Order: sequence, then C-alpha cells, then structure tokens
Amino acid sequence: MSIHVREQEGWFHLQSEKMSYILQLQGGLPAHVYWGGRLEERASLKDLAVKTPENAGIDRLPQEYPQYGSGDFRVPAYQAELTDGTRVTELRYTGYRIMPGKPALDGLPAVYTEQDEEADTLELDLEDAYCGLKVTLLYTVFAQRNVVVRSARLVNGGAADLRLRRALSASVDFTEGEDLEMLYLSGSWSREAALKRRPLLAGGTRIDSKRGVSSHQFNPFAALVRQDTTEEAGEAYGFSLVYSGGFEAEAEMDAFGSVRFVMGLNSFDFSWLLQPGEQFQTPEAVLVYSAEGIGDMSRTYHRLYRTRLCRGEYRDKERPILVNNWEATYFNFNADKLDAIAEEGAKLGIELFVLDDGWFGKRDADNSSLGDWVEDRRKLPGGLADVAARVNGAGLKFGLWFEPEMISPDSELYRKHPDWCIHVPGRRRTEARWQLVLDYTRREVRDYIYDAMAAIFKAVPINYVKWDMNRYLTEIGSAELPAERQGETAHRYVLGLYELLERITGDFPQILFESCSSGGGRFDPGMLYYMPQTWTSDDTDGAERLKIQYGTSLVYPVSAIGAHVSAVPNHQVGRITPLEFRGDVAMSGNFGYELDLTKFTDDEKEIVKRQIADYKEVRSLVQTGDLYRLKNPFDGNEAAWMFVSADKRQALVYHFKVMATPHPAISSVKLRGLASGLEYRVTSNKGGETVVYGGDRLMRKGLALSYAQQDYQSGWFKLQAE
Ligand code: DGJ
Repeated sequence: MSIHVREQEGWFHLQSEKMSYILQLQGGLPAHVYWGGRLEERASLKDLAVKTPENAGIDRLPQEYPQYGSGDFRVPAYQAELTDGTRVTELRYTGYRIMPGKPALDGLPAVYTEQDEEADTLELDLEDAYCGLKVTLLYTVFAQRNVVVRSARLVNGGAADLRLRRALSASVDFTEGEDLEMLYLSGSWSREAALKRRPLLAGGTRIDSKRGVSSHQFNPFAALVRQDTTEEAGEAYGFSLVYSGGFEAEAEMDAFGSVRFVMGLNSFDFSWLLQPGEQFQTPEAVLVYSAEGIGDMSRTYHRLYRTRLCRGEYRDKERPILVNNWEATYFNFNADKLDAIAEEGAKLGIELFVLDDGWFGKRDADNSSLGDWVEDRRKLPGGLADVAARVNGAGLKFGLWFEPEMISPDSELYRKHPDWCIHVPGRRRTEARWQLVLDYTRREVRDYIYDAMAAIFKAVPINYVKWDMNRYLTEIGSAELPAERQGETAHRYVLGLYELLERITGDFPQILFESCSSGGGRFDPGMLYYMPQTWTSDDTDGAERLKIQYGTSLVYPVSAIGAHVSAVPNHQVGRITPLEFRGDVAMSGNFGYELDLTKFTDDEKEIVKRQIADYKEVRSLVQTGDLYRLKNPFDGNEAAWMFVSADKRQALVYHFKVMATPHPAISSVKLRGLASGLEYRVTSNKGGETVVYGGDRLMRKGLALSYAQQDYQSGWFKLQAE
C-alpha cells in the first residue's frame, strides 16, 4: 500500500519508491506538510507541519486546496459564487476513502493503471457547511514512479445554485521557496517549446493560455527547481496538466519566501453553473518529483505518458516512417503526383504515405471547404479509394489529413449551418486563416463530423490520420447554451472534442492518429491520451528543430515527437543545411520526410536509403529507450542526447554542431545512463575503428567529438554492451 493513514492525527502519507507527499489536517483544513524525497512511515515521523504564527490566521498555512475570503490572501484553488452574490466558502474535512488503482475521470483524459497494484488513490472529502458545496480531492500515487496525480471534484450538495468562478486541479505550497526557479516552455508558431528558466521573486510568476487550446505560447507544464538544480542533480517538482484547452499555472511567492503553485483550467473567462446535485470534475495535474535533476524528472514523465497515458494499438508499436506531401506540393497535386511520391518512397524504404491538406471540397488554397469532407474529383478523379489503392499497391500504408474542428465560411457546410460555429450571435466573427471553429459543445455538430470521417474510414483503407487544428477560439459563445452557461463554452468545447475523439479513436483502432495544431499548438497530455503522437512544429529546419525537440522532450516522450526531414532552402527560415544533419535531427524523433522525394538526386537517394535503414535498426531504442539530454542547444553551439535501452546494454548518441567555429576548441561529450561496470563496443557513423570502453569511462571521461569544418554538422555513436 502506497498510502499510510493515521486517522487520529489526520495524517495522510503518499509514498512511492523515492518520494513522499504528506498532508495533515489542521483545524479541519487539509494542510500540506511535505513533498520531497521518500520518508519511511514510522512513529517518529512527525512534527512536519509548519508552526504558523498565532496572529497570521491561515494566511501562512500551507494548504492543499485553498480558498479565498477567510484570511488566506494568496492565490486560491477555487472560488464559488452563491445565489446571494457572496463568494465566501470554507471547506472543512469530512472524511476519506482509499482505493487500489486509479479511477477514470468522466469525460476527461487521464493517466491510468493496468493493474491495481501499480497505484493507490486517496479521496479526501471537504464540505462548506453553509452552502453545501462538497469538494473531493483526488490523489493517486504510483508505487514505482515518483508521481502524484491530483484533481478535484466539486459537487453542489446544497439546495440552491452555485456558480464556480475558479476550479483548479492542484495547489501545492512550498514553505521554503526562496531558492526556487520556474522552468517552462514558451514560444510561438514554428518556434515552439523554448526552454525558459527564471528565479521566483515576491509576487506572481504566471503562464497561461486564453486561446481555447493549450497553445504554442505556453505548454501546460511548469517545474519548480532549486537554484542549484541541473540536468543531472538537484530537486525538480514538475506539474503537467492533462488538458488541451486554456490553462493557468502560477507560482506566487509571499512576503515570507513561501511559494504557492497552482495549476488548472484557466479561471479567466470561466464560469460553471452547478445546480443542486450536479458535479464538476477538474482535469488532472500530474506532479513529478525528482531529487536527481531535470533529466530524471523528464524520464519519469516520458515513461508514464508513453505507457500509462497513451492508449491503443500503437502505444507499444514501432511507429511507421512516413512521407507527407504537404511541403512537397501544398494544394497543388493530382493523383499521379501523389502516386509518384509514394512509388519513390517505396524504393527508399518508407512505410506510410500521408495525403495532407487539399484533397476535399474545392480546396485549392486555405480559404475554403473545411467541413466539406468529400474528395475533390478534379484532383483525384478516382477518389480517395483510388489513391489509397495506388499507395497500397506501391507497398505503403495510406494516411489522410483532416481538420475536423473547423468550418470555412466558403463551404457547403457553412452555407447550410451558419450557426454551427463558435460565435456570439449578432456579433462579427473573427476569421483566422479564413476559417471559424465548429461548435463542438453541440452534439449534432460532433455527430456530423463523426459521420463524415467514419464514412471515409469505412470506404477507404486508412491506417493513419493527421488531426489538425489551425486557429484559436475567438468570440467564445455557443448558440445553443443559455445565457447563464455561456461562460462554460470554452471548457465544453474541449469536453466535446474529447467525446468525439473517444468515439472515433475507439471505433477505428486500426488507425494511428497524430494530432497537430499548426505544429505544436496543442502538444499536450490531453491530446496524447487519444492520439499517441503529435506534429511537433511546422518548422522543420534542422537547426531550429534541435531546440524545439530538446524543449519538447522536457515533458513528452520521443515516441510522441513527430520529426521530418524537409527540403532546402527550408520553407520556414530559408536555411540550407546538409541532408545528413536534417536526417540526424529527425531520426532523434518519430521519423519521416516532408518533401518531394522525386526531386532527390541519385546521391541524395543513397543518403536517404541509408537513413531509413539506420532508423529501422534503431527505431525501437529511439522510440522507447530512456532519453538523456547531454548538451543543451539553448546554451551554445552544440547539442547532444542519447537513448539507452532499459537493460542498459544498448545506446545511441546523437551529437550536433550548429555553426563552424574558427580554430575550434576540443569538444567531447560525457555519456549518461550507462552501466558503469559494462564494457561497450562503440561505433561511430564517421567510420574509424570500433573501440571498446567501460561504461564508467564513457560517463566520466566521455567521447571526443569531431566535425568537418563546416556549418550544421552532426554524427552518432552506437553502443552495444559486450
Ligand atoms: C498546419 C500543419 O501544421 C501543417 O503540417 C499542414 O498540415 C497544414 N496545416 C495544412 O493546412
């Protein structure tokens, strides 16, 4: 059992292999008393609670789900408004339950267990006696992982309506927070997931999304780390929200150097009416603790998300090497052109052909037809079935692009149903990329999309779907919802999306779904629950991708990180990089090509054949091995990382030098994650002699790196234990 309870003392100790998380009731309030390295549960384990000064009331009490209005002036976890207009509630403990395993969350994506022994769940009940609001705090602790998963269920147990103005997933207080720093990912379209790290100071440090999606700007993730925490050592506290809509995360330092960290769906522009008896389940936040640095925190997320968040047939399968026609043709293609790319792909060893945007309606540019999911016979006279047959005939599987959440004002669908989009009746509708967002709060809209997609899946042999989403939400309102529920639209949209995804991915398990939102605009754990991989960024330039993939790996497993080789000059930044460099970067992820394969020279074809053959050899190591980040591209001119098999007998190291430097210094890389006592046979792709070195030597002294005296150089080493 991973949860120890001392009822008399109101003590709840959640314990995993290397971590303890402890809360204790104080005056009926669940106080936070400890989160850190594992403590043994014994009678002498006591006095962890902070003694708050008498005159401070609860303003200095570390709390688990704090409220506003009765003396705690820090950022609260929830707020409810009563029918009399007041906003004060006081939750007090009423009881608890412990259960093996982890319950599913109704309508929401969630981390899961396969065996009950993997985890235990504590449900802690709180109640405001005055209005009847009941809150259950859910905590799941995994026995073998340093993970606590938290969420809250809010139930209106009173006789009058309640309006939730705020309902976050988790709040954690760090009493000694002065040396904490916040690590997070920020960016924009085509430069997602830039690593940011900054010290916390008195006041708030906040990231959020008000865009209706988790966003390119901030990933729904943040870690608090100590000043001296590095990639390999020191404490890291990760918070990752399993949610795909707007979110907030804030670290607030008070005047005493204590830090409260809160995370959940964005309270801004949110309200939720709870009628008597109704309940609201928050998304869950996945909390990871590591005393062994940021790298160890990331690997905990990777293992958990790859095996206990992703689902379906493809969770444990090697992912196919694909070619996507987007940057090869954009909207300008016909069946023969597609066929030619697929034929060439087959010769090179590619396994899947993906037909991207432009195959439906009258879509010759990005200004029409979204919603009209019927093939365009002008471009594809034999329809999708013919394209699929030709692709299959060449020996490749067939994949198809959709943007199912969208509607173009210039579409048959819009002409028929102008109220099917998210909008505020009577107001102007802001278009982005000439499109509007379908109102997924409405069942009929979801059913229409389900039927349109299912009809194609039933008629055409489709093995892969790229589910794209290319704009944010504006004028957030729904024609169907009553006035008092308009503030629910954004969250209901996400719930509608999840409902549709559950149906469609469940009914077509043979399809590998990849999510995309103009690249990484919705690279989040919520989407990974339905689709085990994500298109990481529309920026496929090798040098830019070093950073984007490095940053994304802070939380997400490599099996989720779509990475393609594209043409030069690169379409996003105009840069020219060698094919080998682009290949090594993309082979560090979920590999593919996104260019016109028929335009390769014979020499390039040989390079590509080699890349594909190499990737097939190392694919399972890259996609399921442990990732160790060795050199950070945000810090300098080089990058390096390695993949290590679970038994530590195999490893693969990729290294990169971005710009050539005159009269360069000697460069080397210290490896990680190997077994000190094993001897490894080390082979470099640059040729030269295979050498045998001990794991200790490789980790302490490292390997020398050599590069040609040119920009954008890369290489790799394979390690095999003797
Ligand atoms: C945005 C995606 O990120 C691209 O890969 C491509 O699918 C386009 N949409 C198509 O419109």
